[in-house]
Amino acid sequence: MSNQYKEAIEASLNKIKKNIDRFGAQFPHTSDQEVYELNDNDNWTSGFWVGMLWQAYQYDKDEQFLSAAREKTSQMQERLSNNANLDTHDIGFLYTPSTGAKWQIEKDETAREDTVKAADRLMERYRETIGVFQAWGPPNDPEQGGRIIIDCMMNMPLLFWASEVTGDIKYKEAATNFVDMARRYLVRGDDSTYHTFYFDQKSGQPIRGATQQGYSDGSTWTRGQAWAVYGFALAYRYTKDENYLETALRTANYFIKHLPEKVIVDWDFDAPQDKDIKPDSSASAILVCGLHELLQLIEQESEEYKKIKTVLEQTMDHLINEYTTDFESQGLLDHGSYSVREGKSPDDYVIWGDYFYLEALLRLEKGFHGFWYEVV
Ligand code: GLY
Repeated sequence: MSNQYKEAIEASLNKIKKNIDRFGAQFPHTSDQEVYELNDNDNWTSGFWVGMLWQAYQYDKDEQFLSAAREKTSQMQERLSNNANLDTHDIGFLYTPSTGAKWQIEKDETAREDTVKAADRLMERYRETIGVFQAWGPPNDPEQGGRIIIDCMMNMPLLFWASEVTGDIKYKEAATNFVDMARRYLVRGDDSTYHTFYFDQKSGQPIRGATQQGYSDGSTWTRGQAWAVYGFALAYRYTKDENYLETALRTANYFIKHLPEKVIVDWDFDAPQDKDIKPDSSASAILVCGLHELLQLIEQESEEYKKIKTVLEQTMDHLINEYTTDFESQGLLDHGSYSVREGKSPDDYVIWGDYFYLEALLRLEKGFHGFWYEVV
């Protein structure tokens, strides 16, 4: 097993090395016909490429990875100081794997300060009256003002971390309130998840669950379910609130119960199973990381542990053997979906799929865990 992971890591690092020149000063997002679309660091996904470079360096200490990781991190720092395209809840996705990673690996004080500044930026989206982080749109936006999304669970580690390093409890309090609201309103009674939920932004009254990227309001978008598994597991790691562990396990069990025969999931558990259905390998890669995190948190002798470990290994086998790309490819994982409902469905590479695939491999081979929490 271990050789398989090692070989998959080596193949990934080869592609990442070639991508350093291919991507240059730009940032990959999703691909079209197997060529990554690059942008000038103005999307929610920039941090993943930076995090891949830091992970590559963490694994083999190659100077080429280090200098690229430093260079891309400084572009992220520039974006932060220019406050460019940061009106989003995705600040955790942007800064945990970039400045956060640099701090964890190099103990660079400026990177630590910038990561705290990123947390401050995210706090500007906290809506105290409701106790949530507004996902999209400007403050008081009539449509988006009281709307939350499940993806935001993965932005909470930045805040939990900020409280730990600054000693200021405000970040943790806000994150805890959000996680409680997500648990109450985004997780349904059958342990599936809504992608999004609306509240009245003045009164805080819950209005309704809905979707943006899933098949329908009542369906279960697979990537959202994976964000929930991993996000609640991380919230438990930081808080030790047993409710969060229970929710992570319940959402994981829902995912496991609904796995298709081919193991790697399609974009939505409830999308019609016709010949055009799109897979989302990124949802499966995120799930592996979430399940691996859960294995660190539960009793090793339990039946639950064995079940999770089996699914994790099966999923990884399928990703490695059926979803990885050829030697010369830019992407690591094929058949990721972005937003099928919105017509953004490359069925190709998505940079977060590549990031979480590499994180999953490094978790399994080296016991690394990405940059979502710091081991001191
Ligand atoms: N909005 C983040 C995602 O597409 O998962």
